[in-house]
Amino acid sequence: MDSIAIIGGARLEGEIPISGAKNSAIKLMAASLLTDEPLRLTNMPRLADTHFLGKLLLRLGVSVIESDGPDGPQTVLHTPEIIGSIAPYNLVRQMRASFNVLGPLIARTGQAKVSLPGGCAIGARPVDLHLKALEALGARIELHEGYVYAQAPRGLKGAQIDFPFVSVGATEHSMLAAVLADGVTVLTKAAREPEIVDLAQCLNAMGAKVEGAGTDTITITGVMRLHGADWAVVPDRIEAGAFACAAAMAGGDVRLTAVRPEHIRALLDHMRAAGCQIDETADSVRVRRGTERLRATDITTEPYPGLATDLQSPFMALMTMAQGESVIRETIFENRFMHVPELARLGADITVSGGEARVNGVERLDGAEVMATDLRASVSLVIAALAARGETKVHRVYHLDRGFERLEQKLGACGADVRRIKHGGEEL
Ligand code: UD1
Repeated sequence: MDSIAIIGGARLEGEIPISGAKNSAIKLMAASLLTDEPLRLTNMPRLADTHFLGKLLLRLGVSVIESDGPDGPQTVLHTPEIIGSIAPYNLVRQMRASFNVLGPLIARTGQAKVSLPGGCAIGARPVDLHLKALEALGARIELHEGYVYAQAPRGLKGAQIDFPFVSVGATEHSMLAAVLADGVTVLTKAAREPEIVDLAQCLNAMGAKVEGAGTDTITITGVMRLHGADWAVVPDRIEAGAFACAAAMAGGDVRLTAVRPEHIRALLDHMRAAGCQIDETADSVRVRRGTERLRATDITTEPYPGLATDLQSPFMALMTMAQGESVIRETIFENRFMHVPELARLGADITVSGGEARVNGVERLDGAEVMATDLRASVSLVIAALAARGETKVHRVYHLDRGFERLEQKLGACGADVRRIKHGGEEL
């Protein structure tokens, strides 16, 4: 397993191009199962998660061709025929979102057998809302030995689906299933994340009729068939937010390009309140911080447009060296403070009680060996390490590789001292 070694203290200066959003790309890839024509996705991130899903889709009959196209990195997915309807445990467990093939498989073939998911170790993360939504659409669902067996021999039927609380995955899954259902589906308390809008717009480009994405009520009028399309993946707001925190932590002057600043509005507002200087254009964000300490700032994670839970750990890293105490409330996942003991190894002063962490800013952090526990936790360790004295080694960076493309090159290009140590000791 690779590690990343960082020597803290370098100020960052330069530009960081933001990649396409992982969380959108993997749902868009699943959408390719809904048509027998090719779906060309551009602005595709090349990540462990897109790779895992590609492997699963291949087994289901999708040809997955990655290349550098005229618009940059692209993936063309083509499913002339579904040749398998089984998504096995060894592939689904590696990435929770691969569970989202269930809906498209039922929609197109009337049946599927998909393993219950694994994914990040951040709480129980059940899929009950996904299954209830598919049942509402007329699928017969049974669970045996860790697998979901689903059947809808006469196709899915439009339905009213009232979610009890906001779920990104269940909203997306319902859209993926309902686009080919017979009749109208209405989703209430739908998630409003930019990735939902991206999926809806891509499905519409494929001939679907999805209205209201980006609001809490989405209406989907089922169509008989979808066709191929070209679609550019929305920029990764979580990557952008994490690099914004990294730039502020290290200090310096960094411009993030190919971003949609409005997608990280909540984070940028909190960063400004903390004392960062932020300038935005329509597609870039410039983050500047001098040598002065930041001010402690409280945050609460919320569904979009609130502060993303995925940016809680990067912001916490930033607060470890701020002046004063910041209170960080996590309301989305119950176990998303796993980075706290690791940040403490670097000298951070954090106390957790239930869903609340109190971060007492310290004047210095010191490099240490730390362990990445999940995708979003691991990037907070990298961010903290950028300002820690001496060397930090972050182990188990395969978590990082799931969601951050060329992280060490992107930071390195701005002057950070970051290198990857390949499993076996070879430094890159
Ligand atoms: C997605 C994102 C993840 C992000 C999260 C919240 C992907 C691949 N992942 O995860 O990075 O942190 O949205 O913005 O897009 N829940 C249930 N039952 C369900 C489904 C969810 O109880 O059937 C709960 C979850 O445990 C969690 C909450 O609902 O407490 C929100 O989860 P959800 O929005 O579904 O997150 P994901 O789609 O898994």
